[in-house]
Amino acid sequence: MQVVHTAAELRAALAGHAGTAFVPTMGNLHAGHVSLVDLAKLHGQPVVASIFVNPLQFGAGEDFERYPRTLAADCDKLAAAGCDLVFAPDIAEMYPVPQTFTVQPPESLANDLCGAFRPGHFSGVATVVLKLFNLVQPRVAVFGKKDFQQLFVIRELVRQFNLPIDIVASDTLREADGLAMSSRNAYLGASERIQAAQLQRELAAIAAAVQAGERDDEALCANAARHLKMAGWRVDYIALRDAATLQAPTADSRRRVVLGAAWLGTTRLIDNLEFGLDVPV
Ligand code: PAJ
Repeated sequence: MQVVHTAAELRAALAGHAGTAFVPTMGNLHAGHVSLVDLAKLHGQPVVASIFVNPLQFGAGEDFERYPRTLAADCDKLAAAGCDLVFAPDIAEMYPVPQTFTVQPPESLANDLCGAFRPGHFSGVATVVLKLFNLVQPRVAVFGKKDFQQLFVIRELVRQFNLPIDIVASDTLREADGLAMSSRNAYLGASERIQAAQLQRELAAIAAAVQAGERDDEALCANAARHLKMAGWRVDYIALRDAATLQAPTADSRRRVVLGAAWLGTTRLIDNLEFGLDVPV
């Protein structure tokens, strides 16, 4: 596996390759990221992963500085997973001039759910992903459903800008107790780590209630938020949406998704569960 740090090296390494499958990441890799590489291998060759903690998608006071940077360990994991090439630029390489051109996702997406609590976040994500797409020029790119709204933003970016890239969505990998794997889980103290699986349990309870016929979405979400608050969480949102549109479900919405974001101490966790009305969770 080759590791490159500059756009020029990346271009040289990929010269003549037309079927690249790409996995963008911010590093501190866990088994969830590795599962994206496994899926990428089924969709193209060579498999390229990027590792870049993107300052543009972090707000003031967020965890940009303390985000774990573990390049050597990440490269070991990627090599073991069969990744062919790692692109790990520094900030000056990604942003050689101030990024005054940015991608602005539609307001209804950018300011919804996580966007309502992280102003500018999805613009930062869309901007860096467009830059990475232009640098890597993949045929396929793999994203996790763990970041459901991000996946939605990327699909819309590709569609509205006619990017010739297939977006493949990958299922969320979880710890044994159901907690979605995340680089940010490393911030959790021992008792927080035990508590953290509650977010997923509350989302699963909402999904089960909807599948059982409960239709008061607002009450279901408020109830789950109340449970979390009672257990010491600070809740950003719990919301039920149509999984295809990310809008409020209508009576016809067969695939739905329940999404949540909440804080344990100084750690913000997100999770979601997609479900059908006919299929048990
Ligand atoms: P990062 O948080 O490192 O995630 C990289 C990719 O891994 C994303 O597509 C994310 O959805 C996926 N992922 C994270 N946890 C997962 C899990 N438990 N199971 C499966 N997939 C999981 O998302 C980003 O980086 C950045 O915003 C990025 C797209 C790289 C742009 O900077």
